[in-house]
Amino acid sequence: MNVSLPVLDRVEAGDREEFREAVLAGLSRTPRAIPPKFLYDARGSELFDAICELPEYYLTRTETGILADCTPELARLAGPGCALVEFGSGSSVKTRLLLDAMPNLAAYVPIDISRHHLDATAARLRRDYPGLRVEPVCADYMALEALPADVNGAPRLGFFPGSTIGNLEPHEATAFLRRARTLLGDRGAMVLGVDLRKVPQRLHDAYNDSAGVTAAFTLNLLRRMNRELDATFDLARFAHDAFYNPLEGRIEIYFRSLAVQSVAVAGRIFTFAEGERVHTEYSYKYDDAGIAALAKSAGFTIDRTWTDPARLFAVVYLETAP
Ligand code: AVJ
Repeated sequence: MNVSLPVLDRVEAGDREEFREAVLAGLSRTPRAIPPKFLYDARGSELFDAICELPEYYLTRTETGILADCTPELARLAGPGCALVEFGSGSSVKTRLLLDAMPNLAAYVPIDISRHHLDATAARLRRDYPGLRVEPVCADYMALEALPADVNGAPRLGFFPGSTIGNLEPHEATAFLRRARTLLGDRGAMVLGVDLRKVPQRLHDAYNDSAGVTAAFTLNLLRRMNRELDATFDLARFAHDAFYNPLEGRIEIYFRSLAVQSVAVAGRIFTFAEGERVHTEYSYKYDDAGIAALAKSAGFTIDRTWTDPARLFAVVYLETAP
């Protein structure tokens, strides 16, 4: 029987199928790994918002502070009349700092995979910025080929805050920025938020908070598998495991099996050794040379770098190299 589902249910069914395939593939590989984007179901997104408020998680408040100070100069560099294109428009707090500083934008183009988040954000911004043209694009920004034709003509300013680029391995980060450069065009520019290398203890603490919110964020992935994939993970028998790898300049995050155990996932059985880890995230930390190399590899030049006094975090203004 061919039953046609309402649009939202069809989207959910598609999402679940993608999740199932990614998890089964990720648990069948050696070493095991599940892509970070699946951490953000409704509960995961809430937990990430809570992470941003943690005393140990300096990233969000430091970047927000930098942006609050640099937006006048940033607006001057960008010039009036550009279209602001945000890659993965999660929280709109940082976006609002830019919108407030750039009253003459041709449009604001938030790109997000979540239709729900996108519509909610667009509605709120249209209410609070009545003069602003908001042109949401529901897409995976890692795969997006073109922007809406009606923002053609205006120079484009990309916005990729939050050290989200840190989730990407270097070759993926380059590929993303190359794609962004193409999308933004020859007169395009890009504002990028990057977490900086620092004393390892500080990095370690940011991903091992004393309230256990980051651990709950990682282990929520097991909950999601139990709920959506009929998995049988016992959350008491797995632990969040996050540490700084100084050779690679990255935080590595896993969930680790505390015992030898077998778990059913979507009708299949997976056995975990005691101490075996399943990778969920990298969070790359950059130094100035690393940022410069990354920009260059994607055809950008660094026009300006803003940091906080303690040099915890950097906001860079990239222009397309001639
Ligand atoms: C959203 C990728 C920037 O790497 O700091 C925070 C995700 N994971 N704590 C980061 C995260 C655990 C975060 N990014």
